[in-house]
Amino acid sequence: AHQWRGVLREYADRLDISEATPIVTLGEGGTPLIPAPALSARTGARVYVKFEGMNPTGSFKDRGMTMAISKAVEHGAKAVICASTGNTSASAAAYATHAGITAAVLVPEGKIAMGKLSQAIAHNAQLLQVQGNFDDCLDIARDLAANYPVHLVNSVNPDRIEGQKTAAFEVVEVLGDAPDIHIVPVGNAGNYTAYFRGYREELARGEATKLPRMYGFQAEGSAPIVLGHVVKHPETIASAIRIGNPASWHLATEARETSDGYFGAISDAKILEAHRILSAEVGIFVEPASAISVAGLLERSEAGQIPSGSVVVLTVTGHGLKDPQWALRTADGSDVAPTIVPVDTAEIAGVLGLSKQ
Ligand code: F0G
Repeated sequence: AHQWRGVLREYADRLDISEATPIVTLGEGGTPLIPAPALSARTGARVYVKFEGMNPTGSFKDRGMTMAISKAVEHGAKAVICASTGNTSASAAAYATHAGITAAVLVPEGKIAMGKLSQAIAHNAQLLQVQGNFDDCLDIARDLAANYPVHLVNSVNPDRIEGQKTAAFEVVEVLGDAPDIHIVPVGNAGNYTAYFRGYREELARGEATKLPRMYGFQAEGSAPIVLGHVVKHPETIASAIRIGNPASWHLATEARETSDGYFGAISDAKILEAHRILSAEVGIFVEPASAISVAGLLERSEAGQIPSGSVVVLTVTGHGLKDPQWALRTADGSDVAPTIVPVDTAEIAGVLGLSKQ
């Protein structure tokens, strides 16, 4: 059997790379597209989940990072920089260290998940906690890249979007066509933009017969695209998408118009409800930001906007192990306390409700 070779090698003919590009890969991409019968039953659609938590650092960022770091090394960069709500920093740190260069990452102080912070530190990044939010971090990262010898690997770097579009290629390969609707979480709107680009290329090549309607969801307290204005103090428990001024705002607006898509906002309570449904009914564990795709599907379905029988793909962007604490809370906000039992088979059988055969 063949080992998956990472998105740059698998899609070499469809990316802006050449013989001269050194390929920095950890084997990203080739993630499963998982049918979700429980979500199909709830909505009447044919629902699939693209599980991007299966990438090497546990998020979709790896698809863009293999491209961005490879191109940075091709151009002689010795150091890269990014602003991040966590996943980009984990990915940049892993790919930079693999390539033998330095990564500096700026994260909002106290506002990124522990798993992601641990990853960036484990992979030897110069991690700075900035006393501001993600938007402040991105302003400074851009400033540094413009005036100092560091290469920016946020999604304002077109190489990132280019690498991320490969997820759409994989969906079309598995389904044999584009889905009717594709749903993604939206922070900077880079991934929304990347999927749309990927699908547009599939249509142009004749691999797909249509474009999906692109649906993007932001958290209610961090919903600048839905509101139509910058949010100065974004808030949400979905820390990955706690962003008030999305970098790819205009590209995403264009993608929404062309695809007859939709942007919506979801409350934190609905995000957590969807998080529970996905883990307890489908068997997929994600971080809260990713669960917004599920919440968005359910909201649109309740609004009568998901035609029965339509093919819907939800991208879930990051693994649940990055930010696992949310599973240990009940719907009413109290802590889950696993039952403690003595070393006694009969007693444990009793607690489990088993009676002897
Ligand atoms: N889901 C997760 C888990 C993310 O980490 C991000 C973005 C998004 C969704 C939104 O994607 O920005 O392309 O719209 N995380 C960035 C980071 C901001 O720094 O890790 P987007």
